[in-house]
Formats: sequence, C-alpha cells, structure tokens
Amino acid sequence: MERDVIIACDFASKEATLEFLDKFAGEDRKPMVKIGMELYYAAGNEIVKELKARGHKIFLDLKLHDIPNTVRKAMKVLSALDVDMVNVHASGTKEMMAAALEGLTREDGSRPLLIAVTQLTSTSQEAMNDQLLVAGDINDCIAHYAKNAKEAGLDGVVCSPLEGGLVKEACGKDFLTVTPGIRFADSAADDQKRITTPARAKEIGSDFIVVGRPITAAADPVAAWRRCVADFCD
Ligand code: C5P
Repeated sequence: MERDVIIACDFASKEATLEFLDKFAGEDRKPMVKIGMELYYAAGNEIVKELKARGHKIFLDLKLHDIPNTVRKAMKVLSALDVDMVNVHASGTKEMMAAALEGLTREDGSRPLLIAVTQLTSTSQEAMNDQLLVAGDINDCIAHYAKNAKEAGLDGVVCSPLEGGLVKEACGKDFLTVTPGIRFADSAADDQKRITTPARAKEIGSDFIVVGRPITAAADPVAAWRRCVADFCD
C-alpha cells in the first residue's frame, strides 16, 4: 500500500461518522480511515461494512491482546471483514503475534496488514519502569518489541513519529511505521506530547500518519486533510 494519511474517526456513532465523511464525497482520492475502539464498540461491523462499501481503506485499530489461541480465533473473524490494516499489542509475546498472523491469513494467502503497538505513547519512561516493572530505556524497549514483531512476521508497528527512526534502524526500512501524534506547526497539541508535522513525518520515513483532531475538529476538515496529503504523500 502507498504512503497515506489515515483519518482517526474518533466518533461515538455511525451517524456522526457518516455525516463527517460525507464532506469528502466530492474528492477524487478517498481518505483512508481508522476505526478505533469507541466507534467499533458503538457501531460494530455495520460501520466497517458501510465504509468499505463507500470505498474507504480501513485501519481497524482494536489492539488485540489475549492468549494466542483467543487472538488467533478473533483475527480469523476480523479477516472476514476485509479491512486493510489491523493491530495487536507486541507485549502479548511473539507467540501471540504469530497466532494473530495465522488467524488473519485467509486460505488464498491474502490478509490485511498486521502491525503491533510497542509501548503506548501515553506510557512514560517512569510508568514503564515503576508500574509495569519493565527495566531499561523506553526507546530500547520500543526497538526490542519492534524486532519481536518483525520476527513474528508482522508488517510494522504503531509508534510516535519521533521513534520511527529507531524502529527503521532496528527492523529495516521496509518495516512499516504508522505514526499518530501529528500536528500542523500552527495548530494546538491537545493532549499529545511527542508531536511532529506531516512534512517532518515524511522526512523521518513514516509510512502512514494517523491524524485525528487536526482534521476532525478543523473548521474545514477537507482542506485540513488535503493539506496533510500534500505535505505527506506528494
Ligand atoms: O486527535 P489525534 O490526532 O490526537 O488522534 C490520534 C489518534 O491516534 C487517536 O485515535 C489515538 O487514539 C490514536 N493513537 C495515538 N497514540 C498511540 C496510538 C494511537 O494517538 N500511541
């Protein structure tokens, strides 16, 4: 898949999501969209099928984390939805990631991209050391989890754009980095801490940027999305 901007559709209902995406109806390029836990738990497979039917590429961001057998079977169910990208937590172990891949792969060998969350960007160095009892430097942990994901056969990781370089160094340039924490130089950071612009994310080597509020809360969401596409994809 080509480098793309993924709009985080963090809405609480099918109606709100469709009303938002209707604004993009006149565009030649269809925005790729992310369905996270809030929207999926509210609107389920119906919203996935509706957005698929409208021609959107979909990143289903459900971050699976359970015993390998359960994740394998859950991924088998998700693979029937024919989305383009799904994810798991790398902390579930290589065995769990390999089981996810197995469950996701259809009989003809096709499957959505499978990426791993390393350490959530909301987890600080202190919380990782003191609460999770994972010793050492958080960047080393991120690189190590990314290597585990690669060894399990996954396609890439979700990480902060500022961590993209260390992931590419550890796993090679073809290992995908999907990066949230994107802001225009002239927009609010909101609750995101480690942020960068679409243009800088491109320079650093992100393969996909995930952008929520800079597009969804913009006065003109289509113009904001076009600006992201121009800065990141072109
Ligand atoms: O509105 P904003 O651009 O901050 O949205 C970013 C999106 O990316 C949200 O859906 C958020 O849940 C998601 N995300 C993130 N940081 C991560 C993983 C996912 O911001 N580490």
